[in-house]
Amino acid sequence: MAEASVSRHGMWSSRLLFVLAAAGSAVGLGNIWKFPYIAGENGGGAFVVVYLLCVVLVGIPIMMAEVLLGRSGRVSPINTMRKLVINAKASPLWVLIGWMGALAGFLILSYYGVIAGWALYYGVEMASGHFTGADAAAVSGTFDDFLANPWQLLFWQTLFMAMTIFIVARGVVRGLEVAIRLFMPALFILLVVLLGYAVTSGGFAEGFAFMFHFDWSALGVDGVLVALGQAFFTLSLGMGAIMAYGAYMPANSSIGSTVVSIASLDTLIAIVAGLAIFPIVFANALEPGEGPGLMFVTIPLAFAQMPFGALFGTIFFVLVSFAAITSAISLTEPALAYLVEQYNANRARVAISLGVICWLLGIGTVLSFNHWEQITLVGGQNFFGTVDYLSQNIMLPLGGLLIALFAGWVLPRMVTEEQLGSSPWVARFFLPLVRYVAPACVLAVFAYTLYSSLT
Ligand code: TRP
Repeated sequence: MAEASVSRHGMWSSRLLFVLAAAGSAVGLGNIWKFPYIAGENGGGAFVVVYLLCVVLVGIPIMMAEVLLGRSGRVSPINTMRKLVINAKASPLWVLIGWMGALAGFLILSYYGVIAGWALYYGVEMASGHFTGADAAAVSGTFDDFLANPWQLLFWQTLFMAMTIFIVARGVVRGLEVAIRLFMPALFILLVVLLGYAVTSGGFAEGFAFMFHFDWSALGVDGVLVALGQAFFTLSLGMGAIMAYGAYMPANSSIGSTVVSIASLDTLIAIVAGLAIFPIVFANALEPGEGPGLMFVTIPLAFAQMPFGALFGTIFFVLVSFAAITSAISLTEPALAYLVEQYNANRARVAISLGVICWLLGIGTVLSFNHWEQITLVGGQNFFGTVDYLSQNIMLPLGGLLIALFAGWVLPRMVTEEQLGSSPWVARFFLPLVRYVAPACVLAVFAYTLYSSLT
């Protein structure tokens, strides 16, 4: 195949920038809010061990497959799949990986923008001192009132989407890379500051024990499947975001070690986030297993009652907003890059059009928390629940499964070796995982989610 060594959309200026960009996509609400609380609920240390196994056996091979496909095509996931299918003389049906991914990213962004908008709102409320000294009733009242007012939600969603589109419109180097250089180091620093605060808050031992106690009995089959689903979602796999980013990766850096760094960084941040959050929760004698309420009720309440709570609460929500925006920009890339290529269009114009349509779709999610709360679509879920279910539980696992199968069984060995090198490691580790282990695991999760949604 005639190889393009650079992408027309631009290239990451170094291997490190690619690692930060992919880690920026991976680190999001999934790490800071979801991981700590599901780890706590599913057996703590036991869950963490199983989760790490899932990252190694399923996450890393699928991520390597995405990067390898993306870098060998150097174009958007849809056009990359087209090239590879022609090259491998395979069925054009595989191009569906690209289409489904672009659509899934678009659907996920429509509600991700709404929820991320809440983090912006909470950052501003924290900074204004609104929560200082508030009690439990006041804090949950604030959340309920906020959700009940669609205009408020719309305002913050619009602000978040505008910021995302602004960054994305400026292009890979002037937009994405500039944002990543700024936000990722800031995120690390804020997280360390917060961890320092947690260590001195008085609840550290309890918070640590909550996340790392080994309780195999609390894990169960359910816990194993939750761990696998989480490994998959938190690494941004299954919709071509990492494939699109891989297309801009320098040719001479090793895919295996780069992907291992990304997965390690993502896991480290999830664990540190837990170690920063739970001590603060325990120091204030609050409930750790609040689910969705953890981030917007329990945490604000904890900060409301702590010395310097307004300051550290602001830091916390700024951190969450940064994490969310570097994830959001990756959700647009597959669709955006494709439209630019296909119509030879101006990137900024495509970004704005896509952003506006996504914003419009997001209004359905905004209304799902108030006027449309009771209106159900698929399987008794409202608009938000339906979009969330279709994208996260159907499209992502299906995409990941197809990506693993394509890379493992269809892609010519020559292309794999060109990208990964011909070390014996590839045949011993990468191929068996991507051919058998990863597809089997994803199929299991997929079957289980379908089964549990039907029963
Ligand atoms: N990984 C992000 C998180 O943990 C969410 C995310 C961003 C994502 N891009 C994605 C999930 C692509 C799946 C696919 O919050």
